[in-house]
Amino acid sequence: MKGVILAGGKGSRLSPLTLITNKHLLPVYNQPMIHYPIQTLKNIGVKEILIVSGRNHVGHFLELLGSGEDSGLRFSYTIQEREGGIAEALALAENFAGGEPVAVVLGDNIFEDHFKEDALSFKEGARIFLKEVVDPERFGVAELDSNNKVENIVEKPTSPKTNYAVTGLYIYDADVFKIIKTLKPSARGELEITDVNNQYISKGKMDARFVKGFWSDTGTFESLHRASAFLREKEIACSIDKEGR
Ligand code: DAU
Repeated sequence: MKGVILAGGKGSRLSPLTLITNKHLLPVYNQPMIHYPIQTLKNIGVKEILIVSGRNHVGHFLELLGSGEDSGLRFSYTIQEREGGIAEALALAENFAGGEPVAVVLGDNIFEDHFKEDALSFKEGARIFLKEVVDPERFGVAELDSNNKVENIVEKPTSPKTNYAVTGLYIYDADVFKIIKTLKPSARGELEITDVNNQYISKGKMDARFVKGFWSDTGTFESLHRASAFLREKEIACSIDKEGR
């Protein structure tokens, strides 16, 4: 399985922090944001990672991360020319994937959980990861049947039917690239990852897992602050443990 991190987009909800730099280079506690999705993929066991970003910033990722040699990874980089949506950014990974399944992480998503078993047991279709949240209207929201099977996903609904947010970790088989080619831009002019996921659902090829530990996207001031505070607490707790106090 290969890994893809989507780190394009405007990051406009974090303006003015994102006026001259990319959202995924901003600090989250003591690391640049991009380090966290890299760690999520590393925990899965992925070694080859493609980073997709805009033309103005892709060089900054290259400077920060290099080849990946130091951390036992191999990074590749590609440019998304305009902010055409998450699915448009993912389409750029088709050659890189070379027919293998891909684990895709949105560059602003921070997970505490490890997903190695979820990746090892993946065979075909698509797998998404849900988390119960208090503000589902900010996310893609999954509607579930009585067996917790996903029936439908609605992107940022005004009246969400559940509290289950679709997080920014997705595992897809190679069909994802064929599906993206059938998409039409949404009302906001983007190719939506939710439309990709709904196609897998309608073919009966989607399953969902639940995220147990902390999860946040860091796309707003509030969620960026919350993620930094959580990581700080965790690091302090770990260092107290190590010192045996
Ligand atoms: O965080 C989870 C949510 O992420 C999901 O619940 C939603 O279904 C999904 O649409 C997405 O919603 P956001 O509104 O948070 O997406 P955003 O526009 O912030 O993009 C998320 C990441 O995707 C961003 O950090 C960089 C990448 N991206 C986004 C766009 C629009 C790209 O690489 N290229 C793009 O053109």
